[in-house]
Amino acid sequence: MTGDIDWLGLNGSGGPPSSVLDDPPDALTTPDEEEGTGPGAAAGAPPAVVELVDVTRSFPGPPVVDALTSVNLRIDPGDYVSIIGPSGSGKSTLLNLLGLLDRPTSGDYLLDGVATGRASESVRSALRGGRIGFVFQSFHLLPHRTVLDNVLLATLYSGVPRGERQERARAALDRVHLSHRVDFTPTTLSGGERQRVAVARAVVAGPHLLLADEPTGNLDSTNSVEIMELFDELHADGLTLVVITHDPAVSARAQRRVRIADGRLTELDR
Ligand SMILES: Nc1ncnc2c1ncn2[C@@H]1O[C@H](COP(=O)(O)OP(=O)(O)OP(=O)(O)O)[C@@H](O)[C@H]1O
Ligand SMILES: [Mg+2]
Repeated sequence: MTGDIDWLGLNGSGGPPSSVLDDPPDALTTPDEEEGTGPGAAAGAPPAVVELVDVTRSFPGPPVVDALTSVNLRIDPGDYVSIIGPSGSGKSTLLNLLGLLDRPTSGDYLLDGVATGRASESVRSALRGGRIGFVFQSFHLLPHRTVLDNVLLATLYSGVPRGERQERARAALDRVHLSHRVDFTPTTLSGGERQRVAVARAVVAGPHLLLADEPTGNLDSTNSVEIMELFDELHADGLTLVVITHDPAVSARAQRRVRIADGRLTELDR
């Protein structure tokens, strides 16, 4: 299994590596006292999807790089947040933390009220596969497999029978308006269509949280608008979105704008 595939959360669906298989089936059962007890949790209210509390991420170097410093961020269900900031400011570092691809050096990260900082890799992997979808700048599609297969692969280890997985993959492709391209290979698609396949793959498992790192970075303005419209639709359907972008037009689509500079985060307009 390649690093790319790992990023796509396939491991998190319960499949290999063996660390996931070794985990008891109830590995995700969280003790009651850990659910919804984040600092911002109100009695009876659903927990924040994301709650970062004084999160720091340093890379040891040398030289040491403090990529994120004392980051506090709460993202509620249904929020649509864009993250902007100069190159090297810590945006991808933040997204990797939110996606459970990396751990904070210090501070806490609660995902849907579940404390993740000290959770085992297998629990984090299962959380990632079940609750988070990823979209990257460079699509990460398998070029010689069909569009349908690319989306189906994201459900490979879900334990769901193949027939139902096919239905879900077709429904996800319908959601991104690509029902007419299921038997094509990515090499025959436009950039915008490829990114829509990647979005279908990201949502096929029914995540709560969609994380996108420069999703329009390789697209022209027409295709960028298509992806933004698609994100608007997913947001209207209740998905929580976090989109990293350099593009002010993309950022303007979000409900909330957050800026990172030198690893420090500021809320821009609320
Ligand atoms: N694995 C790593 N080891 C050491 N330093 C790292 C590592 N990953 C990131 N950094 C450093 O952390 C800082 C933030 O990097 P990050 O990739 O988060 O920036 P970014 O805001 O996403 O930039 P860009 O807009 O260019 O993608 C940079 O100084 C980078 O060199
Ligand atoms: Mg980056």
